[in-house]
Amino acid sequence: MKYLLWISLLFIGESHGYVRLTNLKCESYDKSFVVFPECRLKVLGRGIIGANIHVKLLKLPINRMVVRFITYRKLNGYHPFLFNVSEEHCRVLRYPNRLRVFYYFYTAFMPFSNINHTCPYNDDIYIRNCTLDDRMFAKVPLPKGSYKLTLEMDDGVVNWISIINIHFEIDVD
Ligand SMILES: *[C@@H]1O[C@H](CO)[C@@H](O)[C@H](O)[C@H]1NC(C)=O
Ligand SMILES: *[C@@H]1O[C@H](CO)[C@@H](O)[C@H](O)[C@H]1NC(C)=O
Ligand SMILES: *[C@@H]1O[C@H](CO)[C@@H](O)[C@H](O)[C@H]1NC(C)=O
Repeated sequence: MKYLLWISLLFIGESHGYVRLTNLKCESYDKSFVVFPECRLKVLGRGIIGANIHVKLLKLPINRMVVRFITYRKLNGYHPFLFNVSEEHCRVLRYPNRLRVFYYFYTAFMPFSNINHTCPYNDDIYIRNCTLDDRMFAKVPLPKGSYKLTLEMDDGVVNWISIINIHFEIDVD
């Protein structure tokens, strides 16, 4: 049995080195496993848009969850590009390794969330006022263009529980 949830984010780079969040979409395909009481963008200030996501996990506690990040580049549709990495979530939080690409993706969201603690997870997950700035892309050699980042999660045994889709454009010199 599959559980799917989707979060779609669209980032558009406007001016030089600027990445702006313009659209956010969350869908749960199994509301007995996960629901999104909140999933929206909010204007935080002039030209600054933040994402707010409340992920309510209904089968707690979470002791094991495999997370996979895949990046796609858009060229007549989205094609896998550069990254396809997965790790077990609880292990990554217990033994963070800043040199790994996987952890790097996490660091983009951690400052805006309550995920930075070791397992088990017994609470809802919140992402608040999440913005993306150039630092997030400084180490990732993505050329100017349109991209999609997917974040897939499963329970580490058999079931996919979610897929998060992030669409963005990079317009960096
Ligand atoms: C998010 O941004 C809004 C608007 O700037 C602010 O009022 C709110 O306190 C912020 N929330 C958090 C959790 O930082
Ligand atoms: C990502 O890697 C996994 C494991 O190697 C593979 O099964 C999957 O097809 C890959 N996904 C893409 C989109 O390349
Ligand atoms: C996560 O928390 C640890 C311990 O408080 C801290 O050292 C680390 O910098 C945090 N990581 C991120 C990405 O915020």
